[in-house]
Amino acid sequence: MSARVFTFTNNKGGTGKSTLCSNVAHCAALAGYRVLVIDLTCQITCTTLFLEGGEALEESETVLALLKKKPDRPITAVCHRSHKNLDIIPASVSMAQAVIELSAIPIGGEKVLDRHIQQISDRYDYIFIDSPGELNQITSNALVCAHKILVPTRVNRTDFQCTETMIQFIEEVAPLIGPKEVKVIINMLDDRYKTIWAGSHLGKLYLQAQETFGALLSPITIPESNDIRTAFDRGLTVMEHKPKEVAAKRIQELFQQEVVGSGKR
Ligand SMILES: Nc1ncnc2c1ncn2[C@@H]1O[C@H](COP(=O)(O)OP(=O)(O)O)[C@@H](O)[C@H]1O
Ligand SMILES: [Mg+2]
Repeated sequence: MSARVFTFTNNKGGTGKSTLCSNVAHCAALAGYRVLVIDLTCQITCTTLFLEGGEALEESETVLALLKKKPDRPITAVCHRSHKNLDIIPASVSMAQAVIELSAIPIGGEKVLDRHIQQISDRYDYIFIDSPGELNQITSNALVCAHKILVPTRVNRTDFQCTETMIQFIEEVAPLIGPKEVKVIINMLDDRYKTIWAGSHLGKLYLQAQETFGALLSPITIPESNDIRTAFDRGLTVMEHKPKEVAAKRIQELFQQEVVGSGKR
């Protein structure tokens, strides 16, 4: 059976792509699934979280070795073991080189990563891809691979606009990348804005998100959480830092709802 692939994307930085990608992936690994994380971002957030010394890797040990013509390495050579059940293909701070090389491929440049993933797909249950906060050739590669696209957004007008642009882009490129299941995930929203403070500015924006995204909006929202932030500062996911607290429980619910509950592998 081949892995089901989930891509975290948004045409906007800071919405929580890397945070949700790493935490949901670790949640899956802790639940006993075989997990691969692929970091495609020059911020190397998942890379440094999951690999000690991740910031000092040679280019040939990162995903660049798959996306650039040289060095041409098999995908198994760039898969690194992180935790039990969790492997990572790290990114490099020089990801821009891949954008340039992929753009120079006349046909099929958006399918390079997908071809590599096919080689190892049966070794994993789930593959989680962290993609860049911009629309470029790397993002297209991340979208092509996905069975499902998860779009984190915070509750503000700019994030909503970027999220709408992202969804529109995914629809527009459907003839090229195939139709994709998409879910928008509200990140960093205190639950109280959904009920007691529903009439407040943020409460109204949450209602606006429900109207704007409709069926594409995930019922699970992730709260603004110091545990998530401090976990990352300590080089941990919230799943290991504070497994019993609200944020970790909500990540588990998100995993159940949008990953496990999203169709057969
Ligand atoms: N739910 C959350 N609660 C608190 N801080 C968060 C949460 N989600 C993300 N953050 C913080 O917000 C910042 C941006 O998150 P990040 O995942 O790096 O965004 P992106 O990958 O989309 O650019 C990071 O400092 C991260 O620790
Ligand atoms: Mg990121």
